[in-house]
Amino acid sequence: MYPDSMNRWKRYTALAVKRIILAPMEGVTDKVFRDVFFSLFGGVSEAFSPFISVAPTVRISRPHLKDLIPGPFSDQFRLVPQVLGREAQPILDLDGILWKLGFDEININLGCPSSTVTKKGKGAALLPDPENLSRMLKTIAESCRCALSLKVRLGMFCSSEILELIDAFNELPISEITLHPRTGIQQYSGSADLAAFRHLAGKLRTPLIYNGDIRTCEDLRILNRIFPTVRGWMVGRGLLMNPFLAQNFTGFPSPPAIPSEPWARARLFIDRFHEQYRAAKGKGGSSLGRTKAIAIMMLPSFQGGDSVAVRAGRASDYPAFSSLLDDFLGSKPAWKPEIRFKPMDRIKPFPELIAIAAVDESGVIGCSGGIPWNLSEDMAHFREITKGGAVIMGRRTFDSLPALLDDRITIVLSRCSSEADIAGPDGIGTRGRLTWNRGNGPWLCRTLQDAASLVVSLGHERAWICGGGQIYAQALDQCSSMIITRVSGIHQGDASFPEISDREWAAGESRTIGPGQRVQHYRARCLCEDGQ
Ligand SMILES: Cc1cc2nc3c(=O)[nH]c(=O)nc-3n(C[C@H](O)[C@H](O)[C@H](O)COP(=O)(O)O)c2cc1C
Repeated sequence: MYPDSMNRWKRYTALAVKRIILAPMEGVTDKVFRDVFFSLFGGVSEAFSPFISVAPTVRISRPHLKDLIPGPFSDQFRLVPQVLGREAQPILDLDGILWKLGFDEININLGCPSSTVTKKGKGAALLPDPENLSRMLKTIAESCRCALSLKVRLGMFCSSEILELIDAFNELPISEITLHPRTGIQQYSGSADLAAFRHLAGKLRTPLIYNGDIRTCEDLRILNRIFPTVRGWMVGRGLLMNPFLAQNFTGFPSPPAIPSEPWARARLFIDRFHEQYRAAKGKGGSSLGRTKAIAIMMLPSFQGGDSVAVRAGRASDYPAFSSLLDDFLGSKPAWKPEIRFKPMDRIKPFPELIAIAAVDESGVIGCSGGIPWNLSEDMAHFREITKGGAVIMGRRTFDSLPALLDDRITIVLSRCSSEADIAGPDGIGTRGRLTWNRGNGPWLCRTLQDAASLVVSLGHERAWICGGGQIYAQALDQCSSMIITRVSGIHQGDASFPEISDREWAAGESRTIGPGQRVQHYRARCLCEDGQ
């Protein structure tokens, strides 16, 4: 059934240093999609099934069972079934069924942020209760027959939730963890938090797979460099927008008798998908909608494809949709995914963090809990820049302020050990490990990750890091830019700004704002820039 040359796919995949894995995407990467995708594109060695939700009564539904049946190209990749549940026993029951069907690994979904899932206490909703989740995983790990792997987000509400799970993850016999470094409330907004991933890669002993925002070969090169110990790359939307990605990255040969030109292969992909989806699901199976969804993701990767994608989305029947594709893809448009997507940025968490500071010629920023100078122009500059935004500062810096900053959200980082320590003004509440204040006081968070998550939940896309020295030292790694007022002279002080290295920071615009005060902007260098 499989021509000999096709088995070269497998050999190439085995040679690839790290695996590329097709992410599970409910309503997208089902059997029809996988059958068609693997018939046309190479370089992916594994796929996770979209989640199979378990309930105490229904172990596995017929459609889910059908979705796991091997297809004509099943020997080109390994399929790992993914399970979604909140209790150990139904998951163990399903594990037994999957084992009998010949699967040797089950993946547990600890990341789905969709409200239909989380309101049932499944997916990412399991993360804020580490004790319950650890207990559930322990029970599963003790008795499951298949190897156990996890797919996890950083947390449901804040990125620090996963920190409470590290010990359990390290102690349990988990074969691999796929980490998508976003929180559940973040859904798919912002960018994947590479800093958090790096932090966790240093703490987790279980082999890790990276997932999130991989779109181009350049992204894979950058990730390969910054996360050398990661076992593999899981790609979801990136393979829909750029189905050639894995093949181009691994240098995989095209399957035999398949057109090599992207426009011709894209056309084949879309037609084949529509045909097979209709055959599998029948006329009522929304084959047009599903096919359009795939085309809309891919078309903008062709030059001039944006507007065609919009029109394709409006097509009311397959002939209209098909003739639009004939016109566009028949004109042999250039394949330009590298232009569509900017390379993955340096460690750039969401929200964007920007450091703002006034620093003298010796690096001093503070003295005895205060500022060693009184420069009205710099104060006005600080007010102007941060107005209406969110500011994050340490407890001592906050205490040094004469009053709460008006017209800004103030978040104070404080490593208090108990709620009682934090409780001050009225209206303190907690959600997960996040603490917030509904009163007039500052919001209080224990970690920078918590503060960043809070900024997102409050609807802001960026926050200003305002010191003091320890907070800058901790946060600079995660800042995308800095605005530094260079203050002339050398002052007496006991708090300093970290050294600014040319390797990491590119100096940008600069301007004088007052006597002896020059504002200098810096941008964090991208990982893809030379010398990184
Ligand atoms: C439409 C859609 C459906 C998804 N379904 C699942 C799922 O069933 N199981 C799961 O673990 N993740 C699911 N995800 C999350 C993806 O597997 C992946 O973690 C996420 O899209 C980030 O990776 P990407 O940037 O490569 O797409 C889904 C994502 C999308 C967009």
